[in-house]
Amino acid sequence: MNVLVTGGAGYIGSHACVELLNAGHSVVVADNLANANAECLRRVERITGKTLEFREMDLLDRAALNELFDTHRFDCVLHFAGLKAVGESVQQPLRYYNNNLGTTIHLCQTMAAHGVKKILFSSSATVYSPDNAMPVKESARTGGCTNPYGWTKYMSEQILTDTAKADPGWTVMLLRYFNPVGAHPSGLIGEDPRGIPNNLMPYISQTAAGRREKLSVFGGDYPTPDGTGVRDYLHVVDLARGHVAAMDYMAGHPGVHVFNLGTGRGYSVLDMVHAFEAATGKRVPYVIAPRRAGDVAEVYCDPAKAERELGWKAEYSLEDMCRDSWNWQSKNPNGFAAD
Ligand code: NAD
Ligand code: UD1
Repeated sequence: MNVLVTGGAGYIGSHACVELLNAGHSVVVADNLANANAECLRRVERITGKTLEFREMDLLDRAALNELFDTHRFDCVLHFAGLKAVGESVQQPLRYYNNNLGTTIHLCQTMAAHGVKKILFSSSATVYSPDNAMPVKESARTGGCTNPYGWTKYMSEQILTDTAKADPGWTVMLLRYFNPVGAHPSGLIGEDPRGIPNNLMPYISQTAAGRREKLSVFGGDYPTPDGTGVRDYLHVVDLARGHVAAMDYMAGHPGVHVFNLGTGRGYSVLDMVHAFEAATGKRVPYVIAPRRAGDVAEVYCDPAKAERELGWKAEYSLEDMCRDSWNWQSKNPNGFAAD
């Protein structure tokens, strides 16, 4: 299939490009490099031995988007593009609503105008209400988001659902990711956060590398087995493969489909620290710090629907996630930037 990958130069999108190329699809990436480096796509080509087309463009630029669809015949769109920093979204809500909702609306309008009606959307576990019992199934309550980033995911799901309701020709896959970590086993691509990482795994690997003095564990008094927060971490390559499975599923399944993409297993912050130390032989100094605003004690999913209907299941272990994070971090201490 001819696939448009928005945000394909980013962390998850680039891993999806690898799996799409490996599965024989042809790939066009549209990305404004707001949070990415074009070097990443050259490495995708190195990993796969295949080429892709890269368009450096902002999805908010209607004329550029229209021209892209005028000159290509896409079968389907994987929509990863978006801003994703939770704290920043609290500081800059209008920027987040404008970018994350604007890109989704422009994209769908342009798709409809060109008769392209298959889209996979990067949603998040953050759309689930914090008061759900664990593990969450796709039918669990949504809403009650604690920050503008979360609301943009919630609202984008609604926009896409209403679009498919108005025109039954659409096929919409709402993929709710849990906590993607790790990197491609080649060590050529991985997560390249700008500045001080907000998320746990990049912070752990930068601490192990000596770039950060110690990890602050946000909260040691949660009602969890060791008092630290529990999340459903999954290997980014598993997540990328979930997209290929979801794309295959779209044929013959019009309408809106929601899937959790996670492992179904929860690990605590200290589990992650110890697993990382065991997998890499590196020490990760840490201190227990106050809870982070907006955090909940535990979030993990029931992934049974994806296994049953998509035939997809996360395969990589926690050890694989840690080993591949470290492999990427140690081979690329400055990320994609030239040394
Ligand atoms: P990322 O920042 O690495 O990738 C997003 C990409 O979108 C970047 O390359 C960025 O340059 C691009 N982009 C942003 N705005 C754009 C615009 N207006 N026009 C063109 N390109 C634009 O993030 P990621 O971790 O790869 O996440 C991909 C998607 O998955 C995002 O939508 C994110 O919200 C969602 N998601 C991520 C996680 C996670 O833990 N990483 C969890 C759940 C959902
Ligand atoms: C966060 C976002 C979520 C987003 C996801 C992916 C919040 C409240 N939630 O999820 O909306 O979809 O990232 O981008 O920000 N931790 C530490 N020390 C650190 C960093 C994290 O102890 O330096 C802990 C956290 O308290 C949490 C766990 O590690 O218990 C995972 O944190 P993180 O990687 O930020 O992911 P989430 O909070 O699950």
